[in-house]
Amino acid sequence: MNEYPLPTPHPASAHPARVYNVWLGGKDHYPVDQEAAELAARANPTIVPSVRANRAFLGRAVRHLAATGVRQFLDIGTGIPAAENTHEVAQRAAPDARVVYVDNDPIVLTHARALLVSGPEGQTDYVQADARDVDTILDAASRTLDLSRPVGLTLVAILQYIKDSEDPWDIARRLLDRLAPGSHLVLSHPAADVTAPEVAESMRIYNERAAAHASATPRTRKDVERFFEGLEILDPGVVTLTRWRPGPSDTPDDTLPMWCAVARKA
Ligand SMILES: C[S@@+](CC[C@H](N)C(=O)[O-])C[C@H]1O[C@@H](n2cnc3c(N)ncnc32)[C@H](O)[C@@H]1O
Repeated sequence: MNEYPLPTPHPASAHPARVYNVWLGGKDHYPVDQEAAELAARANPTIVPSVRANRAFLGRAVRHLAATGVRQFLDIGTGIPAAENTHEVAQRAAPDARVVYVDNDPIVLTHARALLVSGPEGQTDYVQADARDVDTILDAASRTLDLSRPVGLTLVAILQYIKDSEDPWDIARRLLDRLAPGSHLVLSHPAADVTAPEVAESMRIYNERAAAHASATPRTRKDVERFFEGLEILDPGVVTLTRWRPGPSDTPDDTLPMWCAVARKA
């Protein structure tokens, strides 16, 4: 059962899934989302390249895990479907991959059909739940995933919406506690210590317009490293997005203010 009430998306306040949709060039948003997205991007011009680089990081990380034998993914904070959703990337590499998507925003649920189009050998499911409802998520995910086998847990650009007082580190730890050895954590997070003044100003602009439950907190590299305590962080460690195993045609850009990493549970 959901312990945390699910938000009622309101056209008068900005919601993360819809604001992110503006930055990705989508059409599923209201004027307040567009205004928040555009003003924030004016204050921090690296936002749009960052969200693109963030999606590219998600793709590279999922491809890497699929290539190393991970066949199950739990994608929390899915967002409105965009290009290269997790199941598309995973099933291209491993057609039998299973993916469970989780988001708390009912607007994502209205688009879930696009996430439920699995290839015939694999399987996908969608769970509407809050990331803070760890047991609800894992119980629902276990209908599709075998939690006694490795899972790729993706917490990509979501934990900024969990306040320090709600202990996002404990949420990540409790999720991983119930996953099998060999599971991996794929995480990205807005940085408080890369182009700091621009990030602070863009977050202030977004938070002023955002629904109360959806304000965002950027974090330092040190705080992001804490999500990986007790795990084996894969090379190259906690880095900015374009530094995580770039392809030959990817150009590094250290001005993009997001930290990311992938780590393995021993
Ligand atoms: C910035 S988008 C990231 C989407 C996708 N992970 C990506 O990186 O492309 C964040 C998503 O997290 C969801 N979200 C925010 N807070 C959440 C919470 N407490 N529980 C579940 N989902 C949440 C939002 O609704 C939104 O869809």
